[in-house]
Amino acid sequence: MNQEEAKKRIDELSKELKQHNYNYYILSQPVISDLKFDEMLKELEKLEKEYPQFILPDSPTQQVGGDITKNFIQVKHKYPMLSLGNTYSEEEIREFDARIQKAIGSDYEYVCELKFDGLAISLTYENGRLIRAVTRGDGVMGDDVTANVKTIKSIPQKLNPGNYPAQFEIRGEIFMHKKTFERLNKQLRNTLIEQGVDEDKIEERLYKNPRNFASGSLKLQDSKEVAKRSLDAFLYFVYSDEPVAETHYESLKHAALWGFQVSDHFKLCKNLNEVMAFIKKYEQEREHLSYEIDGVVIKINNYNQQEDLGFTAKTPRWAISYKYKAETAITRLNQVSYQVGRTGAITPVANLKPVLLAGTTVKRASLYNADEMERLDLHEHDTVFVEKGGEIIPKIVGVDISKRDLFAKKIEYIKNCPECGSALIRKEGEVIHYCPNDSHCAPQLIGKIEHFISRKAMNIEGLGGETVAGLFNKGLIRSYADLYDLKPEQLIGLEFEIGTDIDGKRKKRSLQEKSVENIIKGLEASKAIPFERVLFALGIRMIGETVAKKLARKFGSIQLLMEASKDQIGDIYEIGDKIAEQLILFFSDAENRQIVHRLEQSGLQMQVVNDPDEIRSDKLVGKTFLVSGTFSMSRDELKKTIENNGGRNVGSISKSLDYLIAGDKMGPEKLKKALELNINMISEADFFKLLTNN
Ligand code: IVH
Repeated sequence: MNQEEAKKRIDELSKELKQHNYNYYILSQPVISDLKFDEMLKELEKLEKEYPQFILPDSPTQQVGGDITKNFIQVKHKYPMLSLGNTYSEEEIREFDARIQKAIGSDYEYVCELKFDGLAISLTYENGRLIRAVTRGDGVMGDDVTANVKTIKSIPQKLNPGNYPAQFEIRGEIFMHKKTFERLNKQLRNTLIEQGVDEDKIEERLYKNPRNFASGSLKLQDSKEVAKRSLDAFLYFVYSDEPVAETHYESLKHAALWGFQVSDHFKLCKNLNEVMAFIKKYEQEREHLSYEIDGVVIKINNYNQQEDLGFTAKTPRWAISYKYKAETAITRLNQVSYQVGRTGAITPVANLKPVLLAGTTVKRASLYNADEMERLDLHEHDTVFVEKGGEIIPKIVGVDISKRDLFAKKIEYIKNCPECGSALIRKEGEVIHYCPNDSHCAPQLIGKIEHFISRKAMNIEGLGGETVAGLFNKGLIRSYADLYDLKPEQLIGLEFEIGTDIDGKRKKRSLQEKSVENIIKGLEASKAIPFERVLFALGIRMIGETVAKKLARKFGSIQLLMEASKDQIGDIYEIGDKIAEQLILFFSDAENRQIVHRLEQSGLQMQVVNDPDEIRSDKLVGKTFLVSGTFSMSRDELKKTIENNGGRNVGSISKSLDYLIAGDKMGPEKLKKALELNINMISEADFFKLLTNN
């Protein structure tokens, strides 16, 4: 490598590592594994040693990754919060041990502890009471998250009577139990589905692992929300100006007596063999723990020896961590299948010979998209490495090519939809393939109906996903418009399959009178749901709740929205061309128009109902209005709304008029005059926007 290349690589690595630090600490959404991060960091360290002239002043090697966010008060740590050197092999541990021996001789002991996979916290106690909790931040300054930490039950706010110093700090790790993570992530998934978030975006928005969820939770602004996240904590290091004990081991025992939750899994080790035995033991046992660990921490036990060994710029010389590799298993690929989501997004899935991994049996792994399959170069019946790292769904990390049959065929990504046979499309610059047949492809149709009935949309109580799929498969519904034609006598006693139970037996459900009554009642009640939610319920791509609200306010009715041009829609603040395109596409389909028409016939709300008495404020104080033309409400009602909100109605156009609310059939004379005087002309929808905007 020449100088120029070295500089280029140093710049590149520094930039990438900075981004990864940001992803990890600030966004709590890392995109690469710790191992990969450490490899890059080591490469950078090596290059910087060789070419110190190119070290950037803010190089990631000179800094501890930071988690400071702007929402909390920042506090300086009394004792800097350092990180630990990472090792991945027995050999590196031996090197660490050799350095210790060289520095302090051979009379020392280690304490081995678990390396909890959470986020570091520093707690300050004064006279036995918790007074402050601060995150690691950049190691020097951290965020004051005391209010949030006080919601964690295992962190004592008042200590048991004991011989603790009047003032001390204790450090530990805040984490989320695996079970809690699964429960909360499932909840989050349901909420996102209800909000109509696209399937391919849901995976991105879920937390990747308990650590990210814990870290995201601790940074919430509302402590009541934090309390719902059931966080937990282990404490592992006491800092105090007055000595608490001579050794780390003793101080851990003391801390437990004072009321802190100290893990039971720590051990005094006299030599490296004992250290290695501890590491091996927990490599096996980690899957049975209720929380995640990512390695083992090895610390010199005696405080005086710790002091003698001291620190490097970033890490103590008396401690190191051994990191476990992400858990992997080897198994065989049976087949690749393809799932079709509500929006037509295709997800390839690897069906595997069942294998035990991190405590659960893995039968399937996500292959994400065509690019990922290409990267793996998957062939039929390949032997694959499956990893359960940060991801929720296990992932295939590689293929054992040596086990590949000589004549095995390469797996080609499908060209047609597995459900309806349509040719798949992949838009330029996107990684996902779509089935474009959104009006006939079964999973897309079922998905759309499920979205339509969901809580944030039409909120049809009594109807759930399984019933919808059942009704669809029986041929009773093909679109959400069909729901409103259902008759009780068609439904009572109807039997359909609702998946399989654990033993693979098909489960059945038959609709009883009471459920049918609830379905019909729910459908009836949904006719009062306001237009903006009906619009959201239609499930038009890119039309989420907020966009639907804006469109409803702007156009006032489905009729006007359907007649609007791409420019009229795209010009709306924060809407833009892409959304406009999707709307035009949806409404240009005759079948969609027919469905909307049928919904209207069934009595659903297809226009904004402005209740003039509903809105009262002082938002229009000092403003004058002239109302001209016809509106969705009477002119008197509109004038009353103006007055209810502090505005003044005037009878004619003058230069001092603030707004002319222009309705249909406004007189040409008025229009001419308004244009001459450059009067601000607004529509009825614009007017209601004035009232509802902050
Ligand atoms: S001791 C100066 N003990 O690992 C040493 N750290 O990479 C202070 N961690 O920031 C850390 N379990 O967040 C220590 N038993 C344990 C730990 C532990 C997890 C975390 C901690 C620290 C990071 C260092």
